Formats: sequence, structure tokens, C-alpha cells
Amino acid sequence: MSEILIKIDSDRSISDVFQDNCAALEANGFQPVTTHSLKDSKVVFVLGGPGSGKGTQCKRIVERYKVTHFSAGDLLRAEVASGSEKGKELEETMKEGKLVPLEVTLGLIEDAMKRSGDSPSFLIDGFPREINQGLEFERLITPCCVVLSYECSEEVMMQRPLERGKTSERADDNEETIKKRFHTFKESMMPVLNYYDKEGKLRKINDGL
Ligand code: C5P
Ligand code: MG
Repeated sequence: MSEILIKIDSDRSISDVFQDNCAALEANGFQPVTTHSLKDSKVVFVLGGPGSGKGTQCKRIVERYKVTHFSAGDLLRAEVASGSEKGKELEETMKEGKLVPLEVTLGLIEDAMKRSGDSPSFLIDGFPREINQGLEFERLITPCCVVLSYECSEEVMMQRPLERGKTSERADDNEETIKKRFHTFKESMMPVLNYYDKEGKLRKINDGL
């Protein structure tokens, strides 16, 4: 017999608490909204340095096509804004312009995809930022069908986030952190681009060179 009173420790991250919610509901016969398996969905990865226009382009794509858009950075910032313990750790890493642990980002993206109803296709921006993120996503969820990569000069990649920082209140849109974000980007993106190029999935788009 399933329990009636289920206590859930909510002093944890949004995704950990949510997983306990799901377990409690599914033990009582609740069905997820998703009627198809995520394995059958079409996934597009959208890549580019800070300020290269990922978010802006994705907004326009969503106006034209039936596709659900997530930004890995936005999902992480929502976790930080929740004030959870996990969020506090993430905030430190993000202020340093470094990558947060792969399983955290992947968990947030997977939850978001599952919650998106029965969307058949997804645009995921700012992911993968290093090759293992991509390989794990494809192993656990589904292979992507195409990778859009925005190429942008460093001047533009510095100018746009600085401009955005005047109003965005993002803790990482300042000169010092943007430089660190460049560094992380240059260090970890090459293997990602090479991998998807070999797979024949990479589409390079000039966006401010
Ligand atoms: O893509 P965006 O610029 O919004 O990412 C902000 C920060 O979130 C990155 O600098 C990094 O610290 C973190 N991030 C990550 N892994 C990703 C995407 C973002 O660690 N796949
Ligand atoms: Mg963005």
C-alpha cells in the first residue's frame, strides 16, 4: 500500500526536491505529461561565446518554428535564485566563469525537457560547453541532429555582455568575469566543435566577426 503522508525535505535544490515529488506522485499512478519518449525528440545545440547572440537568435527561432527553447545558463541561474545550497555553490563557480559539474546542468536540462509537455523538438543554448557534457547528454537522452555555432570576435563578445550587464543584473556580466568566460570557452570548445564537425552536424554561423 502506498503511503498517504509523504515528507519531503525541501531544504535542498529544486531538482532534488522535484525528483522526490515525482517519485511520490508516480507511486500513486500519476503519468508524466510527456507522452513520447525524449529519445524520439529532435535536439539542436546552440553554441557560442558570451554575448555571441545565442539567446537572441533562439528567441527568433521560437517565433518561427515549433520548438521549445532552454538556455543552460538560465536554468543554472534559476537554481541559484532559488537560494538552495546547491545554488550557492553554483553561484561561486559561475562568478569565476568556470563550468559547473556536468551532472547538475544535465539534470536541470532533462527535468526541463520532461516538464515541457509533449514538445517534439528542443533548442538548447549554451550546451554542451565541453565535450563530456555533449557525450553524456547524447548517451542518456538522445543524439542531437544539428549544432549551430556562432562565431564572434572577442571585441563583440566583450562589448555585448558589458552593455547587457548595465541592466541584466547578471553577476558574471563584468569585465573580469567575461575574460574568464572567454578563457573557459576557448579551452573547452575546440573538442566540441571538432567532434560535431566530424559527425557532419556542425553549422558555423558568422555573428559579428
Ligand atoms: O551561457 P551562459 O553565458 O548564460 O552561461 C553562464 C554560466 O553558466 C557559464 O559561464 C558557466 O559558469 C555556466 N554554464 C555551465 N555549463 C553550461 C552552460 C553554462 O557551467 N553548459
Ligand atoms: Mg544566454
